[in-house]
Amino acid sequence: AGDGAAPPDLAGRHVLVTAGPTHEPIDPVRFLGNRSSGRQGYAIAGALARRGARVTLVSGPVALIAPPAVDLVPVQTAEDMLRACLAALPADAAVMTAAVADWRAASPNVLKIRKVPGAPPPAIALTLNPDILATIAAPGPSRPRLVVGFAAETGDLRETAAAKRLRKRCDWILANEVGAGSDVMGGTDNEIHLITEAGTEDWPRMPKDAVAEKLAARMAVELADR
Ligand code: CTP
Ligand code: CA
Repeated sequence: AGDGAAPPDLAGRHVLVTAGPTHEPIDPVRFLGNRSSGRQGYAIAGALARRGARVTLVSGPVALIAPPAVDLVPVQTAEDMLRACLAALPADAAVMTAAVADWRAASPNVLKIRKVPGAPPPAIALTLNPDILATIAAPGPSRPRLVVGFAAETGDLRETAAAKRLRKRCDWILANEVGAGSDVMGGTDNEIHLITEAGTEDWPRMPKDAVAEKLAARMAVELADR
């Protein structure tokens, strides 16, 4: 940590990062998931560690190697991810990049669901998953000082993301454009709008590694003054 070009301005800080999708079991062989690659979260974890932070990276299933000097906590489901995040506290800051499945199967089958000749397809009843970001950002003695969320949005991105920031009580939201010609999910670039209490800052389209560097630098400034 603290090597390369980055100054060690996060030395002594602990930062919690979530990344990747979650996998919600339907039965022992099937799950609900999404196309999150985990790349942005892993890049952020690496950038924070290079500035000297102790980083706990709670990650859903991805095809990535954890960056050097990062404490990786692999999880599968949203409930696992929430437990791992709470266990990682206290932290000075939290960055929630995970694409947490909004729903899980209400009662996963213990046995593999099999086709029955002539029978209709099975219905899968869903139930809401816990909101990890909102839980971590809720006021309380163990709330990290700086809580950052991500929002992949279509349509009126600024307004939707600003509403999300207030609803989840996080400090910053990094909103990025998805759909309509963009290839953010799984792609290498992100187009970020940083939403804070002060307003919206539009960042130019840049590689996910550059987004990570810029965010880590901003976080170091924010955490420096106390
Ligand atoms: N998030 C989370 N736990 C959830 C859902 C979302 O921690 N169960 C976090 C994500 O990691 C992200 C932020 O909340 O930092 C926004 O995720 P998003 O899916 O945009 O928000 P939702 O509240 O799920 O809203 P939507 O219905 O638009 O998906
Ligand atoms: Ca969601």
